[in-house]
Amino acid sequence: MTAKRVTTWTVRRQRELGEPLVMVTAYDATFARLAESADVDIILVGDSLGHVIQGLDSTIPVTLGEMIYHCRCVTRVTQRAMVVGDLPFGSYQSSVRTGIRSAERLLKEGGVQAVKLEGGQPHVELVQKLTQMGVPVMGHLGLTPQSVHAFGGYRVQGRNEEAALTLLEDARALEVAGAFSLVLECVPAELAKRVREAISIPTIGIGAGPHCDGQVLVIYDLLGMNDGFQAKFVKRYDSLGDKVASAVRAFGEEVRTRAFPTNDHSFE
Ligand code: KIV
Repeated sequence: MTAKRVTTWTVRRQRELGEPLVMVTAYDATFARLAESADVDIILVGDSLGHVIQGLDSTIPVTLGEMIYHCRCVTRVTQRAMVVGDLPFGSYQSSVRTGIRSAERLLKEGGVQAVKLEGGQPHVELVQKLTQMGVPVMGHLGLTPQSVHAFGGYRVQGRNEEAALTLLEDARALEVAGAFSLVLECVPAELAKRVREAISIPTIGIGAGPHCDGQVLVIYDLLGMNDGFQAKFVKRYDSLGDKVASAVRAFGEEVRTRAFPTNDHSFE
């Protein structure tokens, strides 16, 4: 029998019970299956796929069509984890109507159970409307990568009291509008603690310290498959990048020396 799907209700309940939420990104069926078999609660089809799948240096060019494609790859093979799809840059900022249409497509065509969007008070009306329509919304505050140009780079956010107060206001506004959870990215641990105390929905941190209700990492980062810049908040749980390269090298050597294939891998 398939286990029951993680829902917004389960996610809220985990905060009440003090059970940490585990979220990882996945963008394709293979990693989605592996993540689910490892018992994660939430799979995020993040627009970070712009970096790790598409080789871009920001998430800004990622399109709604690309997000839908990757969401479909993930939702096709998952049964238990909640799948959240990112609304990419340009798919919700211009008007509430555009945001609703984009979220509808992520649910109907991508098959996700919830959407995530970046930013606070400017999106309150959209979050309200989506929640009323029955679309669960995960908020995202702090270092919101779609605003990288406005931030002048990927920097820790909320370091001074004024910025911290704005972030707290944004978090409260998202909760009131109906968001069921909130990602906090790259903010001082103490600020993440204040946010968590100020709201009752679960916070999920990435570079936001230990006081959040859950943690998320990009799957390629935690597996050690990313040779580029490593943010301080990334912990590598393996070095699969080296292992993949050495397995492919071993294959290459056997092909060149004609050690592969043998009869074991051939048909009579
Ligand atoms: O796109 C993404 O993967 C994200 C996480 C890093 C939170 O937004």
